Amino acid sequence: MKVIRAAHLLRDALHGPRRASHSIALVPTMGAYHDGHLALIREAKREHHRVVVSLFVNPTQFNDPGDLEAYPRDLVADMEMAEQAGCDILFVPEVAEIYPAGFDTRIEVGRVAEPFEGAHRPGHFTGVATVVTKLLNIVQPDAAYFGLKDYQQTLVVRRLVADLDLDVEIVTLPTVREADGLAMSSRNQRLTPEGRARAANLYRTLCATREAIAALPGGAPLDDALAAGRAALEQAGLVVEYLAAAHPETLEPVAAAGAAMVLLAAAVCDGVRLIDNVEVAHRREEGG
Ligand code: PAF
Repeated sequence: MKVIRAAHLLRDALHGPRRASHSIALVPTMGAYHDGHLALIREAKREHHRVVVSLFVNPTQFNDPGDLEAYPRDLVADMEMAEQAGCDILFVPEVAEIYPAGFDTRIEVGRVAEPFEGAHRPGHFTGVATVVTKLLNIVQPDAAYFGLKDYQQTLVVRRLVADLDLDVEIVTLPTVREADGLAMSSRNQRLTPEGRARAANLYRTLCATREAIAALPGGAPLDDALAAGRAALEQAGLVVEYLAAAHPETLEPVAAAGAAMVLLAAAVCDGVRLIDNVEVAHRREEGG
């Protein structure tokens, strides 16, 4: 595995594979690897000749400087894990490589970036969209891989790729979970053992809410099921930012049972902000 820090050197390294018609995959990451990242790298390697993994803790997507400061970093362990999983080139730029002096352009995605994470983390998706666009332009991969734990992020990336005519396939993979259901996340490292035990309530509650919604007749309002979900999280000691039902592609609010929807949640547990989601399939009513 090569470790490359400069964008022009990465471009040079990709000339050979491109000339040989080798397909190239990009896995954008911020490091602190867990099995969720490794699943993306492995799948990218299964489907493409060359895998580039970018490791860049992107400052512009952190609306909270404390969160940026506390973001876990372990380059030595990450290098080892990325190589084991099949990474060919690890791109580890400095901040000044991505945002040189005078940098003054932003990519702002519209409606799908507005609710949920967009509302609770102002500027977050502008930072994500800008850095992802830059990474896609630097690497010019055939495909880029993202995890569905960041469900809204995958929609934001799909939107910008479609709107800016970027010639890349966006591949999304299911959330990788711990044995108790907690979605794997680099931030989980910051939980105390007691907080870690309570954090599992997020997925548990999303699943219970999905079941409660599945038991409702088509057209029935979702308010009570969602309110019960929020109450269950608060009772478990999590501070709820949102638990809501939305259209799986537009993220517009869904108010009644029966339609396809995604349940999205964000809550703070033990001072650590966690997000998760579950999809609810469209239900065809009997006799309908
Ligand atoms: O999901 C992440 O780790 C980041 O948002 C991404 C896509 C690497 C952009 O910085």
